[in-house]
Amino acid sequence: MKFPDGFYWGGATAANQCEGAWNIDGRGDSVADHFTAGNKTTPRFFTHEIKSDAYYPFHEGIDFYHHYKEDIALFAEMGFKMYRMSISWTRIFPKGDEDVPNEKGIQFYKSVFEELKKYDIEPLVTISHYDIPYHLAEKYGGWASRKCIEYFLNYCRVIFNEYSSLVKYWLTFNEINVLSNGYGDIMAAGILPKEDGMMFLAGQDKETKCRRFQALHNQFIASAKAVILGHQINPDFRFGCMIAANLPYAYTCNPDDQLLAQRDMNLKNYFCADVLCRGNYTPMAKRYFQEEGIEIEIEPEDHQILKEGIVDFYSFSYYMSSCVSGDPDLAKAAGNMSEGVKNPYLKASDWGWQIDPKGLRYYLNEVYGRYQIPVMVVENGLGAHDVLEEGTVDDSYRIEYMRDHIRAMADAIKDGVDLIGYTSWGCIDLVSLSSGEMKKRYGFIYVDRNNDGSGSLKRYRKKSFEWYKKVIRSNGEDID
Ligand code: BG6
Repeated sequence: MKFPDGFYWGGATAANQCEGAWNIDGRGDSVADHFTAGNKTTPRFFTHEIKSDAYYPFHEGIDFYHHYKEDIALFAEMGFKMYRMSISWTRIFPKGDEDVPNEKGIQFYKSVFEELKKYDIEPLVTISHYDIPYHLAEKYGGWASRKCIEYFLNYCRVIFNEYSSLVKYWLTFNEINVLSNGYGDIMAAGILPKEDGMMFLAGQDKETKCRRFQALHNQFIASAKAVILGHQINPDFRFGCMIAANLPYAYTCNPDDQLLAQRDMNLKNYFCADVLCRGNYTPMAKRYFQEEGIEIEIEPEDHQILKEGIVDFYSFSYYMSSCVSGDPDLAKAAGNMSEGVKNPYLKASDWGWQIDPKGLRYYLNEVYGRYQIPVMVVENGLGAHDVLEEGTVDDSYRIEYMRDHIRAMADAIKDGVDLIGYTSWGCIDLVSLSSGEMKKRYGFIYVDRNNDGSGSLKRYRKKSFEWYKKVIRSNGEDID
């Protein structure tokens, strides 16, 4: 088990899922604040108005806003080298289209970054993690409008200048490919439905698809321009793309299944990654657009912008793999905004997500082989039911999950992959994105909060806390 010196061990969160304080100190509401709670079987809903008889779990999150010093001290106790977090756009620009930023929002993140610096923890900052200002969605149609590029860059300019000496690593858009994969219309693009409805519901008609891919193209341009701007403001800044790994295995060696798997790998991963890492649409995109009747507006200067604004490293979230098959009768697998059929060789989590550590090695080799730039795993982990007993949680299942994934990363490094960091998801328990539950927990730190919002918010160290501390102290050599 060998990890390079200076390997960035750490954890990851996102503002909308942990900060809370949704309307405090001048913060505006983001689209994420309009998602109600759900659970494994009940979907989350998007509502235009904030209803007094509905519960919106992101409003309080785990109140990181008022607990960040305590939480960062716990991260430091584990020995974190890196902490991935996101900035809430609406703390900086409450509506998104103002000229003057919100000073209190700027100050909040400055304090967080200074706190991290105290412990030598390197921040990795996601600029947009599913929380576009609600006002931009409502007034302009979200990312489907090119106006958003301008407002996003205003936001980037402020944070790049303000935090130039405190932050080096940036990710432009979280899991940008949820749009090409058809899941993120509301949460990632801010394309709002006329009526209140399910959070993940995305129309398949031609008009909706065109709007979706226009939004994605606009995000590509915004990302590239942010990279160009960031490199001008501070040449030491390093930018990464952030892709939700969709690893498709062919269900059989039938060439039809193989072609389907290859197509999925292309359209669900390389479609976005090629634009962000190479500056052009993947060759298969043309045929896909033609077949789906997708037409988008691309300005003449866009090609050059995309070329100039390529990222410095590749980052991704990895939770599972799935299988693809032409056989419609095979059982479907549950997943993180993904589709596919069940793999008979894999076990699944409490939420049905298929656990596949070897797939992580496979994916790392695939993407490193294609792009040959440094790689980071910025999300990975096990969402599970944890039971708090006598002030701790025996989460041996989480340790086992992580141990296997760390082994797979070590193997990928031996294979030659330039892997530079690993920030496991939800290092402190937070509100689940897909279900809106608290009880789907990922953390090394247990937070006393329940699905209905009750609980003391007190933090507890789980068994995995001590284990991860040991992993980091030994730079990944002692994982037993
Ligand atoms: C990723 C997201 O898709 O998966 C996170 O970037 C999310 O925001 C994570 O929390 C785990 O998903 P869930 O639905 O279990 O919270």
